[in-house]
Amino acid sequence: MTETLTIRDNRTGRDYEIPISDGTIRAADLKQIAVEGEPGLATYDPGFVNTASCRSSVTYIDGDAGILEYRGYPIEQLAESSTFLEVAYLLLNGELPTEDQLATWTHEITMHTFLHENIKSFMEGFRYDAHPMGMTMAAVSALSTFYPDATDIHDPDNRRLQITRLIAKMPTIGAFVFRHGQGKPYVYPDNELSYVERFLAMLFQMSERKYNADPRLAKALEVLFILHADHEQNCSANAVRSVGSSGVDPYSAAAAGVGALYGPLHGGANEAVLKMLRRIGDVSNIPDFIDGVKGGKERLMGFGHRVYKNYDPRAKIIKKAADDVFEVTGVNPLLKIAVELEKIALEDDYFVSRKLYPNVDFYSGLIYEALEFPPEMFTVLFAIGRMPGWLAQWEELVNDKEQKIARPKQIYTGARTRDFVPLAER
Ligand SMILES: CC(C)(COP(=O)(O)OP(=O)(O)OC[C@H]1O[C@@H](n2cnc3c(N)ncnc32)[C@H](O)[C@@H]1OP(=O)(O)O)[C@@H](O)C(=O)NCCC(=O)NCCS
Repeated sequence: MTETLTIRDNRTGRDYEIPISDGTIRAADLKQIAVEGEPGLATYDPGFVNTASCRSSVTYIDGDAGILEYRGYPIEQLAESSTFLEVAYLLLNGELPTEDQLATWTHEITMHTFLHENIKSFMEGFRYDAHPMGMTMAAVSALSTFYPDATDIHDPDNRRLQITRLIAKMPTIGAFVFRHGQGKPYVYPDNELSYVERFLAMLFQMSERKYNADPRLAKALEVLFILHADHEQNCSANAVRSVGSSGVDPYSAAAAGVGALYGPLHGGANEAVLKMLRRIGDVSNIPDFIDGVKGGKERLMGFGHRVYKNYDPRAKIIKKAADDVFEVTGVNPLLKIAVELEKIALEDDYFVSRKLYPNVDFYSGLIYEALEFPPEMFTVLFAIGRMPGWLAQWEELVNDKEQKIARPKQIYTGARTRDFVPLAER
């Protein structure tokens, strides 16, 4: 039996029966609810707080229970047992790869890690202090000019080629951007290394012939990439889908994702956590700081989430990764403040009653800092990790027959039909 919703329009006294499926009604079904001479009823939902924009089988989140799954696999198991490339394959294909499939996928990725030399000179055009995210966004979108074949988005093989290129080239872009800011020569990809080790080598290699990253640091970064690989319909995935819905190539759609991630409300919170911890400065200052937060003077950065009303499952995993990193780099003195802040906040009624728990950004900045990344690079790391998720969302959109070009309605609040007034008479 179809579930339905009965709506009475009190303006007309008419009743309507609207089908419910998957816990939603179709906004287009409301159009029939109309008063004579007026447009049909629409929904108003700034920020999409209660509107599903697509059907997706990529990532499942239950924010109340603190559950995050990629294609049905719990994030905890993936972070513990898989590699980033395995997770990327899973997100894109729906299934974990067999040994052969993983070997082929890893080979394909490895064969596409180099950037066209012109990208290098293009990057050199940026000022020495250009923000790494601005440079990353520009480089991702510039790739579309190197691969004009990417416009053929309805050919699955062609799509797969561009997806491979994007995932393979992101660490090279990120590392070149980093080296540009440091005034150091760019390091080419060493294709004998794994995805994450290669990235670390491109970032940090100087005169040594071979750069071998500490495996514990490589593992921690691998885990961080896995944790960031997708998060269903977040702001940047929505940007990729929205721009992609025009039929543009995947480089241009992915560049929109990088742009969305650049914003402080999305990818930039980990930097804010570091600033906050530095400002607090000492464990003895925490009670005053917490009083300030409770008095509404400021927010406890790295706490709270639009979706998670429980401990963000990624925060738990990151805390463990932080311990592993600090074993190698020595403990970041800010960690003590973070741990104490978390302890106090988790017992305090203000935070408990509002369901405010640590989110993914609470500890990630501390790890990135320990790995010697400047704060402006934090979001670039996020973008490298998120690329497979954006592309899985993009491909799902391209294959979804129900999707249309993204084009919301508006409630018009401006003036109507006025006569033009010549300049001299205004
Ligand atoms: C993430 C965030 C934007 C979610 O916001 P939201 O879902 O719109 O939640 P609201 O802003 O409506 O917050 C609900 C209540 O909790 C309080 N609150 C939310 N986050 C808080 C925080 N980090 N510190 C203190 N109070 C907070 C709000 O003041 C509000 O209290 P009130 O009901 O007394 O007014 C918000 O929690 C936040 O700003 N967190 C800090 C920034 C951060 O870590 N962002 C990274 C997210 S991954």
